[in-house]
Amino acid sequence: MKIILMGGPGAGKGTQANPLVERFHFPHISTGDMFRAAIKEGTALGLKAKSFMDAGGLVPDEVTIGIVEERLALPDCADGFLLDGFPRTLAQGSALAGILERLGMKLDGVINIEVDEEVLIPRLTGRRVCRKCGSSYHMIFNAPKQEGVCGQCGGELYQRSDDTVETAKNRLNVYNTQTEPLIAFYEEKGLLKRINGDQPIDQVFQDILKALG
Ligand code: AP5
Ligand code: MG
Ligand code: ZN
Repeated sequence: MKIILMGGPGAGKGTQANPLVERFHFPHISTGDMFRAAIKEGTALGLKAKSFMDAGGLVPDEVTIGIVEERLALPDCADGFLLDGFPRTLAQGSALAGILERLGMKLDGVINIEVDEEVLIPRLTGRRVCRKCGSSYHMIFNAPKQEGVCGQCGGELYQRSDDTVETAKNRLNVYNTQTEPLIAFYEEKGLLKRINGDQPIDQVFQDILKALG
């Protein structure tokens, strides 16, 4: 299964990635997670990405497309993958089409998790993320059993530095102007599957499975 998870910031891409990986055993490729790991390790990629992420803007296409191309060429992607947060611009969408063609791969579907804007901001500001495995929690909507501790791996939970109200608003603006045009791009290709993301987490997952047939 080769799929893309799309949706605004806080729509639930990372949250749905977990059960999808359990189900399909494919690599979860989140460009946001890759950038955060690079920043933590202090690599050249991390240095390039940091200022854009802190402002809630997009890391330049040439940087982002390069790391995805390298990742998709690794052998563990041959049978399937889950792209989360890529593509995010029309240029990235076209580049991805070229990469997949060169690799002889075809997408099975593009899942667009749809949630109204006013629901997204409180999701972001209340989010807590595991330092070790990246699982997303929410102080109110998806609280960990033990405060501050990841239920999956026991790791420590922290708040992402771009989950402030101000940066979250910027990310939403960027999504609306730069990422939303991709919805029509994939609709025209007959790949788009619209999912109502304003439902309980399990129900969203069931709807995604149904949409994937
Ligand atoms: P990235 O890490 O991808 O952030 P994002 O797109 O803003 O999306 P999020 O991770 O914030 O949201 P999500 O949909 O994963 O939500 P989650 O499941 O955690 O990117 C970060 C930055 O990196 C970007 O701003 C950019 O700078 C850069 N970047 C990344 N990719 C790039 C690219 N391709 N090009 C250029 N730059 C790029 O859920 C959110 C919260 O809601 C959680 O607390 C969760 O518990 C809760 N929740 C989830 N589902 C539900 C539900 N159904 N009901 C109630 N609560 C829910
Ligand atoms: Mg995410
Ligand atoms: Zn964890």
